[in-house]
Amino acid sequence: MKNNDKPTIFVTRRWPVEAEAALSQYFNPTFNTSDTPLSATEMAAGFASHDAIAPTVSDKIGADVINAGAKSSGRLIANFGVGVNHIDLEAAAKAGIVVSNTPGVLTDATADLTMALILMLSRRAGEGERELRSGSWEGWRPTHLMGRALQGKTLGIVGMGRIGKAVAHRAALGFGMNVVFHNRSKVTERFGYSARQQDEVEDVCRKADIISLHCAASPETFHVMNTERLALMKKDAYLINTARGDVVDETALARALSENRIGGAGLDVFQGEPVISSALLEAPNTVLLPHLGSATVETRTAMGLKVVENARAFFAGQPLIDPV
Ligand code: DGY
Repeated sequence: MKNNDKPTIFVTRRWPVEAEAALSQYFNPTFNTSDTPLSATEMAAGFASHDAIAPTVSDKIGADVINAGAKSSGRLIANFGVGVNHIDLEAAAKAGIVVSNTPGVLTDATADLTMALILMLSRRAGEGERELRSGSWEGWRPTHLMGRALQGKTLGIVGMGRIGKAVAHRAALGFGMNVVFHNRSKVTERFGYSARQQDEVEDVCRKADIISLHCAASPETFHVMNTERLALMKKDAYLINTARGDVVDETALARALSENRIGGAGLDVFQGEPVISSALLEAPNTVLLPHLGSATVETRTAMGLKVVENARAFFAGQPLIDPV
């Protein structure tokens, strides 16, 4: 700890104004004022010279960064975001570094964006906007850019956690869809609409008109949508991913799309983001967004405030609110 005895926090990216202000009230933060991605060396130096580091999904927090912090003053990794697949949790545990995240506050924003992708695909909104802006729209006609209705179609959710459920609610109650889902543990909750749990991801692939992925990225879910499962999808079905790039085999997906073996894909997350494979960029019937799931002022502020709460609890010697 340095000035005023406030713990010091190294913050890897800029936050919304209100969240930065809250952090500054309780800590001595160092912000990355240029907001450009930092190298592992810069993050290691940052963690080593502070009590905590607050990274985001775009920072790779490997053993090098963690051990540099642990050898010096670093004690806490307070992640700005719910997904923690960019953090080497094993290295953190070994080094005695505690990790927190920000679950809950981004559920609705991510579910909303999932519905946006579903609607953009099913109503061909991206195509339509591109056509209009390019000056090639020839005017209204009965067969122009016909999409497909959601009412009565089946949404298949893979990963029925907080976000999966929020998407299911929107789709069923707002858009009249039926829901099937796969979840690794049994979901006993009653939903007030038709939502049937399936034993295997394959069952979801066969039954759904739209598959939406909401599982956390882990070795078990790596490429959960692979060549074999993509082949089980209905020919006109859509695949939506607002979870993590790692859960989809993008090469297999691009192939399935370009061979018209599935109806389309709506993706907000990518394996090597922000670099997107040319195969995906060129694939037909795709809507591609730059990881916008949680990107509302309200949600990003709430995520920052959650980092603050977790760090305050930690440095007050209390249990973390959101331990990972
Ligand atoms: C999350 O919180 O996991 C979002 O994808 C942003 O990191």
